[in-house]
Amino acid sequence: MAPSLHAVPAAGFGRASAAVLLSRTTRFARPVIGLPTGSTPLGLYAELGELASRGGLDISLWRPFAIDEYMGPRQHPCSNYSYFARHWDGIPGAPAVQQFDPQSPDPEVEAASFAARLSAAGGLDIAVLGIGLNGHVAFNEPGSGADSSARPVRLHEESRRSAAACWGAGTPERGLTLGMAELLAARSVILLASGASKAGIIARALRDPVSAECPASFLQQHGDLVVVLDKQAASGL
Ligand code: PGA
Repeated sequence: MAPSLHAVPAAGFGRASAAVLLSRTTRFARPVIGLPTGSTPLGLYAELGELASRGGLDISLWRPFAIDEYMGPRQHPCSNYSYFARHWDGIPGAPAVQQFDPQSPDPEVEAASFAARLSAAGGLDIAVLGIGLNGHVAFNEPGSGADSSARPVRLHEESRRSAAACWGAGTPERGLTLGMAELLAARSVILLASGASKAGIIARALRDPVSAECPASFLQQHGDLVVVLDKQAASGL
């Protein structure tokens, strides 16, 4: 099914992302939501914060799950754990995000137990995703199959380069991620991308043949995909 596509001016990207998410959350009493990190969803989280602060939004029944985490110190300022502490936990009423333990002594067991927790919650109702310059979603790097499940992964060089802007010399080599299987099983998927640097990969992900070399392209096969882009990220379509 063709995705529903929204291309909006950059200034309205956060608001449009929030509007699309809220259009989906209202379908569920206690929505289980996969949440991304990175620069892309900052406007979304800020908008949710504003709406909740004004009393116009109650997210206290949402059940948020982080979609990935770096395998580094949990308290490091560049971990996803710290990201959610900065950008999510301050939203009035926001429930704690379920997260991978990046320092688990057994990452395979940690990934499996996180997947089991998600499954016990009924799986994802909504997966909110950013996209990497190499076509990754969460840490499903090029080569990840549609049937890949939650697991520890080695980060692609491209992902490490982006991460190095924050982590510097200590950029982790590995991460923990939900697999394409858990993401594609979400009842709704919302893909977010902003900025000119994402125009090429968005065109590849949405227009080129589906391929594990661009894991985001698997989203073309999802029955309820909504894509929210700013005009720059949409410029290659
Ligand atoms: P970004 O990261 O939002 O910082 O561009 C997206 C991603 O790599 O998934």
